Amino acid sequence: MSEPVTSADTENSTQTTQSTQSTERSTVSGETDERIQQSWLDYDFEGEPKLASKELDVHYGSDHALKGISMEIPKESVTALIGPSGCGKSTFLRCLNRMNDRIKAANVDGSVTLDGEEIYQDGVNLVELRKRVGMVFQAPNPFPKSIRDNIAYGPRKHGDIDTGLLARLSGRKDQKKEDEIVERSLKQAALWDEVKNRLDDNALGLSGGQQQRLCIARCLATDPEVILMDEPASALDPIATSKIEDLIADLAENYTVVVVTHNMQQAARISDQTAVFLTGGELVEYGDTDKIFESPESQRVEDYITGKFG
Ligand SMILES: Nc1ncnc2c1ncn2[C@@H]1O[C@H](COP(=O)(O)OP(=O)(O)OP(=O)(O)O)[C@@H](O)[C@H]1O
Ligand SMILES: [Mg+2]
Repeated sequence: MSEPVTSADTENSTQTTQSTQSTERSTVSGETDERIQQSWLDYDFEGEPKLASKELDVHYGSDHALKGISMEIPKESVTALIGPSGCGKSTFLRCLNRMNDRIKAANVDGSVTLDGEEIYQDGVNLVELRKRVGMVFQAPNPFPKSIRDNIAYGPRKHGDIDTGLLARLSGRKDQKKEDEIVERSLKQAALWDEVKNRLDDNALGLSGGQQQRLCIARCLATDPEVILMDEPASALDPIATSKIEDLIADLAENYTVVVVTHNMQQAARISDQTAVFLTGGELVEYGDTDKIFESPESQRVEDYITGKFG
């Protein structure tokens, strides 16, 4: 992008980039009105991006929820998405594995690449895409099945193991492989020790924090490359939250993690880079997490981080 992205303000859009000086007015939401500068969005890192969005726009009917989002996400790291409610964080996250395709009103324009390949092109296999780019939601959503069946669900669906009902009736020929996947995934999600003696119990009998780690294990069972998490700890107590945070840090050694959070301390603790979305569906600043939290360029970002609005 050569042109700076402008806030959707007619008065400001006629000004030059020096207009960051004129940031006196406040918007209805309490944010200072200012013009976004391209340099606030440029983030240099080593290696090729794992994911990259370019000029990404999302409309829900006539509601313009995301405006021209361009950002590159490095591999094997944690990227935090922060910003006030309604600014488009979940919408952006869902663009990264085409979950918005499931929402009738959503209309996505622009580009998202995974390892340099466009995911919004005809012929992309969405099941395969979502296997590579897995997702964990805000509320733990285990299936009302056994712990084992929750983990084995994905690998069975993708044909990696043959242990479904029919296979079970004929002797479960991939039982050993299933056992390995179940153990490996639960260990990765730091849940194995708590459930290894109750794998055939219903997953709904687990605590909320355990259910969320089960959902992470279920996501890991299909060997994803990217894990998208939408406020994965917001419904959990501090101890369960800290387990999820430790887990995210461990996962980043092998996976690309993109996590939405409303918790500033959490974003600062667990992420390598942070993207700040603000009201109106704009990406305002993106960069190294320490830089964003310690010396943001944007006044609006500083106001948001210090709790002046949002
Ligand atoms: N399925 C939908 N249909 C219509 N509008 C939607 C839909 N999902 C989101 N929106 C709208 O898009 C905008 C962005 O919503 P989104 O859920 O992405 O925000 P968010 O940043 O994740 O908010 P929160 O922090 O509250 O989860 C909001 O104005 C919201 O009302
Ligand atoms: Mg959301």
